[in-house]
Amino acid sequence: MDGFGIRIEGLRKRYGEGDTAVDALKDVNLTVSPGEVVGLIGPSGSGKSTLLKCLGAVIEPTAGRMTLGDEVIYDNGWKLADLRALRRDRIGFIFQAPHLIPFLDVIDNVALLPMLAGQPNAQARRRALALLEALDVAHRAHARPSQLSGGEQQRVAIARALANQPPVVLADEPTAPLDSERALGVVGILNHMAQQFRTAIVVVTHDEKIIPTFRRRYHIRDGRTDEERGQAHAEPAG
Ligand SMILES: Nc1ncnc2c1ncn2[C@@H]1O[C@H](COP(=O)(O)OP(=O)(O)OP(=O)(O)O)[C@@H](O)[C@H]1O
Ligand SMILES: [Mg+2]
Repeated sequence: MDGFGIRIEGLRKRYGEGDTAVDALKDVNLTVSPGEVVGLIGPSGSGKSTLLKCLGAVIEPTAGRMTLGDEVIYDNGWKLADLRALRRDRIGFIFQAPHLIPFLDVIDNVALLPMLAGQPNAQARRRALALLEALDVAHRAHARPSQLSGGEQQRVAIARALANQPPVVLADEPTAPLDSERALGVVGILNHMAQQFRTAIVVVTHDEKIIPTFRRRYHIRDGRTDEERGQAHAEPAG
């Protein structure tokens, strides 16, 4: 696998202990290459959010292996990386609701994390504007989030997730509040951004409108993954 990307092997997560223990993940195997967008689909309670939290270094798995690029993050119950630094520098999050900061204008919502990471303000804003242009929402750069439509807010949230150019982006139901056209637009943008920045993107979704658009998807049932290849976008020949 070139560059970054995600590889998970035999991942397990148990919540609690003894009689009340819940085995939320029993055997999860998944890979995402740089530049690829993968769908993660499954019924309620199947372990989607648990897996996304393990991937995002928010909770630690009980067993199994997870690597980001050539760096081993967990190996059979051992944590081998600084998880705070990992979350800050390597992972972008997109949630169902945009969670923008209401008293900052759009451009500063996107530039905030890079500024906090030490980028000069002017440079962070210039890059934020370029991302907003790529996402077709630069004309709203100086508006407040509350003055934007739902689809515009979600595009700003995507720009924010990409602002630090993380190699991994995790999206939890990013299209749930959007109509079909906007939902498909968001998926198109994620694919485009993944290719442009060589980002590995995982999208958790129930959304029937967008499920067929993933070239590769993982079904999770009762804590176990099955890979499935979609028909929608055949690999180009050659
Ligand atoms: N903190 C926790 N403590 C104990 N059990 C938990 C905890 N979080 C989740 N679970 C259990 O783990 C299993 C998987 O939950 P998870 O939230 O990952 O499912 P999900 O696929 O995201 O579901 P949904 O589609 O409803 O969001 C469920 O049985 C859930 O009850
Ligand atoms: Mg969930």
